[in-house]
Amino acid sequence: MTTLITNIGSLLTNDPELGTLTDAAIVLDGDQVAWVGAAAAAPDADERVDAEARAVIPGFVDSHSHMVFGGDRTAEFNARMSGKPYTAGGIRTTVAATRASSDEALERNLRRFIGEMLRQGTTTVEVKSGYGLTVEDEARALRIAAAHTPETTYLGAHVVAPEFADDPAAYVDLVTGPMLDACAPYARYVDVFCERGAFDGDQARAVLTAGAARGLTPRVHANQLTEGPGVQLAVELGAASADHCTHLSDADVKALADAHATTVATLLPGAEFSTRAVYPDARRLIDAGATVALSTDCNPGSSFTSSMPFCIAVAVRDMGMTPDEAVVAATLGGARALRRTDVGHLAVGARADLVLLDAPSHVHLAYRPGVPLVSAVWQGGARVC
Ligand code: NIG
Ligand code: FE
Repeated sequence: MTTLITNIGSLLTNDPELGTLTDAAIVLDGDQVAWVGAAAAAPDADERVDAEARAVIPGFVDSHSHMVFGGDRTAEFNARMSGKPYTAGGIRTTVAATRASSDEALERNLRRFIGEMLRQGTTTVEVKSGYGLTVEDEARALRIAAAHTPETTYLGAHVVAPEFADDPAAYVDLVTGPMLDACAPYARYVDVFCERGAFDGDQARAVLTAGAARGLTPRVHANQLTEGPGVQLAVELGAASADHCTHLSDADVKALADAHATTVATLLPGAEFSTRAVYPDARRLIDAGATVALSTDCNPGSSFTSSMPFCIAVAVRDMGMTPDEAVVAATLGGARALRRTDVGHLAVGARADLVLLDAPSHVHLAYRPGVPLVSAVWQGGARVC
């Protein structure tokens, strides 16, 4: 089954040779892109879609989310908006609600958020564990996540489990031992929240190296609330990404720039928005040469948004990114952070994940904040929205 989408006003390919095409067309064959070029030269296909001079972009690649959880944190958000600060400790509220949830309730919730994402143009999403913090609850979260996405991350080291409050070292032993054994079969990555109130540099190193020894690729919650060792550790261990990167020293920026081919700086504007915190300086990272991704961090505590268009708009308005840079970071940047070469771009052979916008150009994603501009979504060549 082939589909021709033609009369595309602006086609963002993220391909260095093709660039952004005007008066373009694209042909999908099965789950892949089969042809890209000028509308006038397009081959025939089984099905034809008229884009009516609107824009087409690659599906968003959301490389950081925490969507297996129970309950919500409305009260904590309300308190924050009345002046209370955000701390890592709030995670424990969601841990209690998650442990109390049935498998069915957790899966229903996850499906709902993935559906929200799809309707907003996200065709690839990473999902972390981290609200179970027991061997069974972490493995359960990853088992549920793995049924919906191949991009799953073991985050047993989100915070120290409440039962181990007096003995964090014993919790790290659990995370690097029996919990890792139970979770590794369902996970592609290992992550750690390296932060005051969560795990220090030595603990984070132990978690990441244990995960790597089991074949999981490291990624790190780094430098979110304070400057700390997270970014340097991520680079040193060849992590796929250092996420948040809100509080960076010059040495951190240089480390990420030097590691641009290996470790992506993943920025999560929803977290600063929802915790009323200072935004990361994307301009500083891009100018230094770092590879930047944008992601939602969708979770009930620090960033309860599933919307990549929202993150793009904030990143342009408040983080120094141009609209082009932000849309590329939300597509190709996310793909790099997940070390995927088949998504995040639209060239022959790429996965047929794409979004038709109700706008003449992808710039409108930032120019028209809060407006639902996603008109149609194809995932693996199938029209899903
Ligand atoms: O990425 N920083 C750590 N983890 C999440 C927040 C989790 C929560 O507050 O529930 C984050 O922001
Ligand atoms: Fe996160």
